[in-house]
Amino acid sequence: MQYVYKAKKILPHSFSFWLLAVLALLLTIEGCYELFLMPPAADDAAPPSQSQVATLQAPRMPLGAGVPTSLNMGMPGAPTSITSLQAPRTAASVKHFTLTAQPARLALGAHATTPAWTFNGTAPGPTLRVRQGDLVIVNLVNHLSFGVTIHWHGVSVPNSADGVAGVTQDAVKPGQTYTYRFIAKDAGMYWYHSHQFSYEETTDGLYGMLVVDPAKPTIHADVDYSVALHEWSTDNQTTLVMNTSAGTLNVAAHPGQWVRLRIVNTTSTASGMPQLVTLLGTRFKVVSLDGHDLYSPDWLDETPLPIATAQRYDLLFQMPTHGAVSLLTSSDNQHYQTTPAAVIGQGVKPATLPAVDQRWFDFNSYGRPTKDTITVQSHFDAAYGIVLGNQMGSSLGRMGMTYTLNGKVFPDTGMIMLKEGQLVKLHFDNKSDLYHPMHLHGHVFTVLAHNGRPLTGSPVHLDTITVPPHESYDVAFYANNPGIWMLHCHNFLHANWGMDMMVMYDVSTPYTVGTASGNFPD
Ligand code: C2O
Ligand code: CU
Repeated sequence: MQYVYKAKKILPHSFSFWLLAVLALLLTIEGCYELFLMPPAADDAAPPSQSQVATLQAPRMPLGAGVPTSLNMGMPGAPTSITSLQAPRTAASVKHFTLTAQPARLALGAHATTPAWTFNGTAPGPTLRVRQGDLVIVNLVNHLSFGVTIHWHGVSVPNSADGVAGVTQDAVKPGQTYTYRFIAKDAGMYWYHSHQFSYEETTDGLYGMLVVDPAKPTIHADVDYSVALHEWSTDNQTTLVMNTSAGTLNVAAHPGQWVRLRIVNTTSTASGMPQLVTLLGTRFKVVSLDGHDLYSPDWLDETPLPIATAQRYDLLFQMPTHGAVSLLTSSDNQHYQTTPAAVIGQGVKPATLPAVDQRWFDFNSYGRPTKDTITVQSHFDAAYGIVLGNQMGSSLGRMGMTYTLNGKVFPDTGMIMLKEGQLVKLHFDNKSDLYHPMHLHGHVFTVLAHNGRPLTGSPVHLDTITVPPHESYDVAFYANNPGIWMLHCHNFLHANWGMDMMVMYDVSTPYTVGTASGNFPD
């Protein structure tokens, strides 16, 4: 199979124009990188409203050569504007929420506290629970001193509700409000986070979980609990937490009860490695990945589950007659650590922690095959190859390690142009020594093959595929949700230093990325 990268040939004119403009600017002020002189953008001039956040610096755009002034990611003159791509105004069932972006100081267990930006005063923000088919209406209120948005990670929202600053909306300014409206089409575990300067804003607390219950229950569980793994950096040290605790999180469950434990990794670990987690005290199944159920999942026993940034695992298990079940993490991939941990049920915890089994969970051969809409045999209307790499270079006028798609950094990475109804294949080829959890907005994709070999177990449907160093994945999806959608690495550092591109239909947008608007998605 030959992969042809078509994006460069069909750049929209406005995009090429801005590329040239940026290039020209680079040539005229070459060498004058204002790397160490980054005055705050006008947008961020207001001081933090509470002294307790003094140690968190408001995110801001670098001002070096190469920072775009006003980059329009749409197709100018296209018949459809993303502003028209909206959810219906009413539905049989409507769920309303208000999320207020506000500063807070969080206690991370007994010893450490950290300043944070939060939704409603906590990180994670409130876990939103809705039913499949609900119309979800979320009011975002911004009480921070800089712009924010909310992106509904993994949810196939209409494009105007995607929350990407400079693409689907302007960042919501201090004191302003914004309303998101979408139908919760697919059941499962999702999460939300700011997509304005998400490297800083999500890392420093602007995230939460979203659970969509199926219209008709599929898997029985007596206890349903969600855990966000997040790493905080406090005074030269990192602290991993489960929800709000760096210690032990206690979850009530009785012997014999069935427990569904949903886990999301909302952080990029300093090492860039996926976080390893496992369950101790009972056997378990991985019933869903990224919110999508697996077919006929097998029992697992202390199997380490690698979970990279933005990925979700739903685990199902039955409480043993005696003793507790523990969710554990490893910091070195060799040993499990005592904290943070979630302890489900009561009774004796295991006295010694086992070494980490070197055979990690592998979804490529998990569960059983069954009929699926998209398979390796499907006819694909378009195929794109994307090489993942990294190299020293410049991104937004900053010199340093850049993370590349086909050797380019955003915004030079080009675009993938789709037509509604196409079946599209993407081939991710990781030529770097790093893990890259690649995320596509607005669509769910089917994983076809790993290193060229088709999956042998259950069909797997994801929104984030972690491509290990020097490995490849083929995925495919239906172009069934018109708009302009980001495709990027979800390691926040990688995305901030270049690893983003746009997947787009013939759609225009009134919004722009760059210094003029102050919008910058990553
Ligand atoms: Cu979780 Cu582009 O986002
Ligand atoms: Cu990456």
